[in-house]
Amino acid sequence: MMLRRTISRLAVALAVPVALVGCRSEDAPAPTPVSKEAGPAVEDAPVAEARELTLRFETELKRTLLAAVEQGGPPHAITVCRDQAPAIAASMSTAGWTIGRTAARVRNPSNAANEWERRGLGELQAMLGSGEATDPKALEWHEVVEHEGTQTLHYMRAIPMGGLCLGCHGSADELDAAVKEQLAGLYPEDQATGFSVGELRGAFAVSRSL
Ligand code: HEC
Repeated sequence: MMLRRTISRLAVALAVPVALVGCRSEDAPAPTPVSKEAGPAVEDAPVAEARELTLRFETELKRTLLAAVEQGGPPHAITVCRDQAPAIAASMSTAGWTIGRTAARVRNPSNAANEWERRGLGELQAMLGSGEATDPKALEWHEVVEHEGTQTLHYMRAIPMGGLCLGCHGSADELDAAVKEQLAGLYPEDQATGFSVGELRGAFAVSRSL
């Protein structure tokens, strides 16, 4: 059985061949790793679509977050984040695509990474850790798996910590008292604090049957 792995970065995404990596899904019988050689023209279109979807999702999330902070400060923005982030993800999960956000340490347990997402996060973390990334936001990873005759694309793009994020994901002394109190009430299992700028906060996770 052949196994081929390619990690692509956004900047060179169109120049590199598509990643075909076998995987096991947690809750399903073992899928067959895909091992065919595919022409870039066939495989690159869904990857480009997945990337485009994450860019639109990111823009929409940021617009919503900034508007909420402006309107009512971070405590208000927390509730907006809680209500709007999943709603925006759901509204963009159309035409066979599923999009969401995940992380190694999550605030909302329903964002916890599944098996392939954990693998993708590990790869993104390794790429970021290698120090080669000129633009951490452009770090991306994907794989195609086959199960019972259906191929599925899994795609992830890194979400690095930025300055704007510190007020809600920074270290304890960077969070104001009202934010801490609200987070404690809404997310008693919150693991998503203590990050510094430049670290991997999480990733966009996208999938679709091909
Ligand atoms: C006003 C507070 C606030 C700010 C500022 C903020 N976040 Fe969040 N973040 C949240 C909340 C609340 C959630 C949980 C949303 C949910 O319930 O799905 C969250 C969830 C996330 C998640 C999903 C994974 C998880 O932990 O559940 C990621 C990734 C994330 N934030 C990244 C960022 C990044 C990157 C920034 C800066 C650009 C940022 N956040 C700024 C409040 C904030």
